[in-house]
Amino acid sequence: MSRICKQRHVSTCLLLTICAVLVAQLSGCASAVQSDKPERTVWLSSLNLEKMTSGWGSPQKDKSIQNKPLTIAGRTYEKGVGTHAASLMYVDLKKSCRSFSAYVGVDDEVNGKIGSVRFRIYGDGKLLFNSGVLKAGEPAKKVDIDLTGCKTLTLAVDPAGDNNSYDHANWADAAFVVAGDDPVAIDAPVFEEEKVILTPKPGPEPRINGPKVYGCRPGRPFIYRIPCTGRRPFRFSAENLPPTLKLDTTTGIITGTAPAKLGEYPVALKAASRHGSSQRTFKIVVGDTLALTPPMGWNSWYIHYNRVTEQHMRNAADAMIASGMADAGYMYVNIDDCWMKKRGDEPYRDAGKAVLPNNKFPDMKGMVDYIHSKGLRAGTYISPGPWTCAGYVGSYQHEQIDAGKFAEWGIDFLKYDWCSYGQVYKERMKQTNDDLLEKKRPYRQMGDILKQFDRDILLNLCQYGMSDVWQWGGEVGGHCWRTTGDLGLAGGADLSGFYHIAFSNAQHWQYAKPGQWNDPDYILIGWVGNARGMGEGKPTSLTPNEQYSYMSMWCLMAAPLIFSGDMDKLDEFTLNVLCNAEVIEIDQDPLGKQAPIIAQTDEYFIMAKDMEDGSKAVGLFNTTEIAINISVSWNDLGIEGSRRIRDLWRQKNLGTYKNRFEMKVPRHGVAFIRIFPTGSAE
Ligand code: GLA
Repeated sequence: MSRICKQRHVSTCLLLTICAVLVAQLSGCASAVQSDKPERTVWLSSLNLEKMTSGWGSPQKDKSIQNKPLTIAGRTYEKGVGTHAASLMYVDLKKSCRSFSAYVGVDDEVNGKIGSVRFRIYGDGKLLFNSGVLKAGEPAKKVDIDLTGCKTLTLAVDPAGDNNSYDHANWADAAFVVAGDDPVAIDAPVFEEEKVILTPKPGPEPRINGPKVYGCRPGRPFIYRIPCTGRRPFRFSAENLPPTLKLDTTTGIITGTAPAKLGEYPVALKAASRHGSSQRTFKIVVGDTLALTPPMGWNSWYIHYNRVTEQHMRNAADAMIASGMADAGYMYVNIDDCWMKKRGDEPYRDAGKAVLPNNKFPDMKGMVDYIHSKGLRAGTYISPGPWTCAGYVGSYQHEQIDAGKFAEWGIDFLKYDWCSYGQVYKERMKQTNDDLLEKKRPYRQMGDILKQFDRDILLNLCQYGMSDVWQWGGEVGGHCWRTTGDLGLAGGADLSGFYHIAFSNAQHWQYAKPGQWNDPDYILIGWVGNARGMGEGKPTSLTPNEQYSYMSMWCLMAAPLIFSGDMDKLDEFTLNVLCNAEVIEIDQDPLGKQAPIIAQTDEYFIMAKDMEDGSKAVGLFNTTEIAINISVSWNDLGIEGSRRIRDLWRQKNLGTYKNRFEMKVPRHGVAFIRIFPTGSAE
């Protein structure tokens, strides 16, 4: 993080503190409520502490997080709650709380260790108190806030910018003055945010989208459906299309075999209709590298789990076309776990020893052909271990035969999930005692096998980031690799799981490049099922602004864009998040750079990505509970002079800026901009 950002952070803190004091002193929340009940004290520790989250351990009643007397800077408190950053609690004040008071600080039990925390209190979404950074050994800060008319209180503790080691945080002597019903601890309220659609509707005129470069191996089957928005019918044409390829001028699907000769084949794609025309250079690169841009598509896991059927897959392909997702560049239709036989449901394999689909997949080849007939690609899933993660048949000791079957079906993408391979790994380690060799072994084996077939098959390594997979995933034949555990299971006391996955994935930015991508897991928006218990689909609990942030981060990180919600329940808002052509262009940029986080404070972080044309894509992400101004300086970005700025979500020019750019960003929202040199074409 730059010095400038740190300074700015300090001044933002100061500003917020001043605002907090002012807000607290002036008005509290809203108008007062009359009550006949006598005023009394209700201790925070008498509320249901199971509703309070904490980054380590569980919050304690009238004790520190380690169950000792609450002590801050030598002073001991009888009452209060001991928790650990990051910690959050929501309280329904029943509109009857007059005030809240406490002493906050780090518990002495950390014994001079580095613990540092920050306490913030919000009333109905407004910041009422900000302690600033409090370190171990420092005296407690007094909290005394007016809550007249307030409905909901949020008590938040964050790790104050560093990690949360020794962040033992005390709400000492914490109490409400109440004149009506008792306050009640509640689950995180759903933030009612209006679903504002930011992506402008594509016009009737054609606009060709999708990647500008495309890698394939010589002489292999080729299939590509030109992504193009606008009102159909179009007349497609493709100048300089290699003679081994054929374009269907009505559907825009290119099929055939890739040229035999290695090299670059720039093709001028064109789509025309009575509403206008669009042209775009599409460079086919025949060589050894596939996935020159991150793969885009859909995966069945987070909506269908073990309920997945062949019909779901066929429907997903239909919906990918009908919804316009394919016109934005989505092309892989991937089955996840649970398509094979479940453990116990023998026989597992056919006469030739190849893995058998279960009875929900009566015609795997027919299904893949169907997906291909739409110009889309088909993906599948298996484990190198004896069983998949959900307890279905894996490929252990049948790798060659199973992969041969996949190739025969026409599969284009394989997710290879470690799961029960852990047992095999342990046995092998007894022989070699070489962790890296053994972690690579199953992936190298499958990487080598896939290259033998007459198909371009992408390999997705799913082993959750073990042994720094980003350093060797490409070497063993992978095109993308999961860098973390499952996003659907990721949680956080303060922010939704996708933020924590992004923070982790962002650290490996140096390793992403064309053909080799860090995979932070799927886009879980729209209707998704809870991964814990493989639940039925429900509308996402993410707010609209969180969804814009999610998609922006994934594009900045050049992540595979794989949606895993319900394809049958795609609503206008979800599609607006998934299908903004200018946003997707950031992900699909041919330079293939992943954005690092260039600045991070307790209020915001900034990601910046270098683009092929010399412009920069920048995301300013607000991690607080309120709207704040976030700015980025040219110094931080390594640029100078006048710059033209475009708002990517709104697809709107914001004008020319010098030295810095600042924008008000909503709670958990993003300002996603592209910074061009002035003089560059609009
Ligand atoms: C693991 C993977 C998930 C999903 C499940 C299927 O948890 O990480 O993405 O494939 O297995 O069982």
